Amino acid sequence: MSSEPTKHVATYTAEQPTEISSILSGGYHHPLLRTWQNERQLTKSSFIYPLFLSDDPEEETVIESLPKQKRWGVNKVVPYVRSLVAKGLKAVILFGVPMAEGVKDELATAADDPNGPVIVTIKALKAEFPDLFVICDVCLCEYTSHGHCGILRDDGSIIREQSVRRLAAVAVNYARAGANCVAPSDMVDGRILAIKRGLLDAGLAHRTMLMSYSAKFAGNLYGPFRDAAGSAPSFGDRKCYQLPTGGRGLARRALARDLAEGADAIIVKPSTFYLDIVSDAKEICRDVPLCTYQVSGEYAMLYAAAEKGVVDLKTIAFEAAYGCLRAGATLIISYFTPEFLEWLDEL
Ligand code: PBG
Ligand code: ZN
Repeated sequence: MSSEPTKHVATYTAEQPTEISSILSGGYHHPLLRTWQNERQLTKSSFIYPLFLSDDPEEETVIESLPKQKRWGVNKVVPYVRSLVAKGLKAVILFGVPMAEGVKDELATAADDPNGPVIVTIKALKAEFPDLFVICDVCLCEYTSHGHCGILRDDGSIIREQSVRRLAAVAVNYARAGANCVAPSDMVDGRILAIKRGLLDAGLAHRTMLMSYSAKFAGNLYGPFRDAAGSAPSFGDRKCYQLPTGGRGLARRALARDLAEGADAIIVKPSTFYLDIVSDAKEICRDVPLCTYQVSGEYAMLYAAAEKGVVDLKTIAFEAAYGCLRAGATLIISYFTPEFLEWLDEL
C-alpha cells in the first residue's frame, strides 16, 4: 500500500506550464475590466456631429451618397437637433450649402451672408440650445464659383494673402453671430494667424475657440461630402493645398506651425487611414484638445461594408472610434454621432 497522500486536483505543481507574466486574461475577463483597459473613454461628449445646411428654410433632403444624412433648412434642423440634444448631443459642426442659383462667385461672398444658412442657423441653434457647442467649418469651397478653397489667380493657384484675409473675415462673422468655435478646413498657409488676429481685433478671441484642421490630407475620401455640400472643384484638384498622403513630415510641420499661430485645438483628417498622424499630433500638440474627423468616405465605406455583410455596423463603428482614441484623439467628428448617442446608452 502506498503511503503517498492523494493529490488534490487544484493543487499547484511544479509542472505548471506557463510563466506568471504570460497570463494577461485575468485583466480583462469581465466587461467592466475591459473598459478599465481603455486609456481614453468614449463618451457622448467625445462626439461632434456634422450638419449640412441649405438656404431653403424648409428643406429636408436625403443625401444619396451619405447614408442617413440629410441637407437641412433652418426650420427643419432645429427640431432634429432638439431630438439629439435630448439624447445627449453636446456639439455640432455646421457646413453651409447654398442652393440658390447665382450666389457663388470668385470671392465666396455668400459664405458670411447674414441671411445665409450658416449665420441664420448659428443664431437659431444658440437661441434654442444655449448649451450646445456650435462649431462652424470655415472654408470658401462651398461658396466659390470654381469650388476651390481659396481665391485664385488666373493660373488656378491660390492667392494666399487675399484668401486668408477673406477666411478671417468669414470666421469673425461666424463668431460674431454666436459660434462657439471656428474650424478652418481650407489648408491655406497662414490662416490660423490671420483668423486669430481677426478674432482679437474684433474682441471675440476670449469666447471663440479656434480649432484648426491642421493635418488634412488630399485623397479619395471626401466624395460623399462634396456631393452633400456641392463643393467639388470645377477643375483640377486640391493637391496644392491639402497635404500629400505620404507627407508625414509635412503634417508634423503643419501641426507645429498651427499651434504656434494660435490654434486652441487640432483636427487630423481623415481618421482611420491616418492614425500615425493622430499619434504624432498627440505628441506635438499634447497641450490642446485633439480631434479626428471620420470623413464622409470612411463613413460610407463602413456603411457599404455592413450592407454587404462584411462587418457589423455597430461593432465596426466602435472599433473605428477606439482606434482614434488609442492613437491619441479625445474628440471625433462623426456621421455616426446620432447612433452613438443611443449605443452609448446600451452599454
Ligand atoms: C471643406 C471641407 C471638406 C470636408 C470638410 N470640410 C471637403 C474638402 O476638403 O473637399 C470633408 C468632410 C468629409 O468628407 O466628411 N474644405
Ligand atoms: Zn474647402
